[in-house]
Amino acid sequence: MRVREAVAAAHPNIALVKYWGNRDPALRIPSNGSISLTLAGLKTQMRVGFDPDLERDRLLINQVPAEAAALQRVSRQLDLIRNEAAVRAPAIVHSDTDFPMAAGLASSAAAFAALTLAGCAAAGLKLGRAELSALARRGSGSAARSIFGGYVELVAGADAATSVARPLAEAEHWLLIDLIVLIDPNPKPTGSTDGHSSAQTSPLQAARVADAPRRLQACREAVLARDFERLAEVVEQDSDMLHAVMMTSSPALHYWQPSSLAIMSMVRSLRRAGVAACYTVDAGPNVHCLCLPEAEPRLREGLEQLSPDLWILRAEPGPGAWLV
Ligand code: DP6
Repeated sequence: MRVREAVAAAHPNIALVKYWGNRDPALRIPSNGSISLTLAGLKTQMRVGFDPDLERDRLLINQVPAEAAALQRVSRQLDLIRNEAAVRAPAIVHSDTDFPMAAGLASSAAAFAALTLAGCAAAGLKLGRAELSALARRGSGSAARSIFGGYVELVAGADAATSVARPLAEAEHWLLIDLIVLIDPNPKPTGSTDGHSSAQTSPLQAARVADAPRRLQACREAVLARDFERLAEVVEQDSDMLHAVMMTSSPALHYWQPSSLAIMSMVRSLRRAGVAACYTVDAGPNVHCLCLPEAEPRLREGLEQLSPDLWILRAEPGPGAWLV
């Protein structure tokens, strides 16, 4: 029998209002909704080939055979696709990423969005974007959002089928620049999956989740109105609330490093001086500095003054996952 193969690519995304904690960890139904921006400039490509001659699934990440844990996570996602499509063959998966993995840059978002799209195409499964999003979410919560481009909202629905992402605004709606400062490009000690499961141990998590509808509404309105000042306020508050939960969880998760704080503080003073920039930090020390295009030179200057040899990646709003 012939090998059934497909290739897909996806961008990661940066959450403007973040998801942390799952109401149902097995199905990855998030405790709260989230809103993100899909990031062109960084990309993961997945080649999936179902091959009946293989004994078991194989995974190569940037051409190197992956560790058992990564392979197992990919195999579980392939199992969901195989079940839906009644395909039995094992698969060989080639994953190629052009940005540092597991450094808090949501590499799992791009990976599972691309894997889901390529896997479904290779298996002959024709799903709409909403169904693809729900399926991608099972592999990584934030992957549900990378199925779509531009500004995207992941709804914390009542069940697995309704916890899907939907587009909020096209990439072209508003040009925001994301300067991502890589403080530490090495894999983080505690990944998001373990972090999600400890969210409930923080006494602050319930308050963060209860307040989520307010932040989501503020973010939706700010994005739709292209109101940077309003966006900056909610984005920074949401990021700080997330890290307050992380720091007060058991075990405590301290992702910020001194240089993360120095950058956050510099960005806040720039904004006080009228520069349209704000920060947000995921589960890692790297700082995403969002800005309007006209603010980019001042922001770069500020970063340069902090340290002339910072490693900075640049991203802007981009499309959802696509078949290659
Ligand atoms: C802090 O989607 O990476 O980036 O489902 O275990 O893969 P898994 O978690 P993941 O968690 C994202 C956490 C976050 C916030 C966000 O992107 O909303």
